[in-house]
Amino acid sequence: MKKKFTFSFGSTVIIQPGIPVIADIIDSPNRVLVVCDTNTEYIARNIIGFQRTPICVLAPGENSKKWDSVETILSAAHKAGLDRDGFFIAVGGGVIGDLTSFAASIYKRGAGLCIVATTLLGMIDASIGGKTGFDLFNLKNIVGTFYPASIVFMPTQTLSTLSEREWKSGMAELIKIAVLDEDDNFLSDLEQEQNPDHESLIEFIERAVQIKGKIIEYDPDETGFKRILLNLGHTFGHALESTAGLGKVSHGEAIAWGLARACVLGQRIGITPPDRAEKILAILQKSGYETGARHPLCSDMNSLLEAMQSDKKKKLNSLRFIVPALKSAVVLSAETIDPDILHSVLDY
Ligand SMILES: NC(=O)c1ccc[n+]([C@@H]2O[C@H](COP(=O)([O-])OP(=O)(O)OC[C@H]3O[C@@H](n4cnc5c(N)ncnc54)[C@H](O)[C@@H]3O)[C@@H](O)[C@H]2O)c1
Repeated sequence: MKKKFTFSFGSTVIIQPGIPVIADIIDSPNRVLVVCDTNTEYIARNIIGFQRTPICVLAPGENSKKWDSVETILSAAHKAGLDRDGFFIAVGGGVIGDLTSFAASIYKRGAGLCIVATTLLGMIDASIGGKTGFDLFNLKNIVGTFYPASIVFMPTQTLSTLSEREWKSGMAELIKIAVLDEDDNFLSDLEQEQNPDHESLIEFIERAVQIKGKIIEYDPDETGFKRILLNLGHTFGHALESTAGLGKVSHGEAIAWGLARACVLGQRIGITPPDRAEKILAILQKSGYETGARHPLCSDMNSLLEAMQSDKKKKLNSLRFIVPALKSAVVLSAETIDPDILHSVLDY
């Protein structure tokens, strides 16, 4: 069954079991560059079929999320003679999606873009809403643009080859989006179905796409107070990713740990109701995420706090934390938080 959602920020999302073919994306395959990694190349080859479409294959993983890869994509587009009306098709998870979207956003001041999301995390989060970018100075997503793909395909059959680690990484962002659901039903449903069958999983993906899509429609460029809520768990999580060494901990696992820390912080400053914090922590623990104050891959509070200071969410030089509230979540400026409480959340 095919499901289609169209959002006011310019993206049409198509969730379907099968891998799309190039004719589903664009009428002229001559104006296309397909970008994938070595793990998603088989999906990209399926999309292209017998067309002679240029393809750019990168190494997989977070370590590829750097300027060199953007240059490789831009150079492949140039060699392929792509014009401004050309089309980039990203086939992969969040890394390939973010890199290709960034390249598309700057190539000849903006070319066409389609994302074929092939990880759970890519489907429920990274492919929607137009955040593009790459890592620099060992810091996550420090360079980027807003550039939503006009078409996003989510071929759910591709999820069958995901590793356990990547599966777990995607489930963490699913839990985060469920926490942001205003009516809280999503979180309760996830609590009941920790190992969803294929049908329930598709339903969860659809719900996550709609929740994230609505938030972005409301606040497309994160100038308001809505889109930033999607960074729940990220102030702690990104700091962990940087401190542990990019790629050492998966993005989702870092966000799960960050979400746990945000719950504890929220509870200690009286914003997250204790039963809600307990419910979220219980779901994270049952799903096998690290939720303790000290993460095994980070034993140095100063490096963590230092990495937090480089966070993109800083405004007027003030670090911001997002913590779960009675419903959804709220944004807090670090100045409103007693440093001793913040340190106690990291248990040092
Ligand atoms: N733009 C956004 O709004 C946004 C939101 C959330 C996360 N992100 C970014 O997304 C990235 C994480 O995304 P990710 O978790 O998809 O990581 P990823 O893109 O590195 O993919 C994870 C691994 O799975 C492999 N893979 C992809 N599809 C596969 C498939 N169908 N079968 C088997 N293996 C497959 C990849 O090759 C890679 O090794 C991070 O860099 C994060 O910053 C971006």
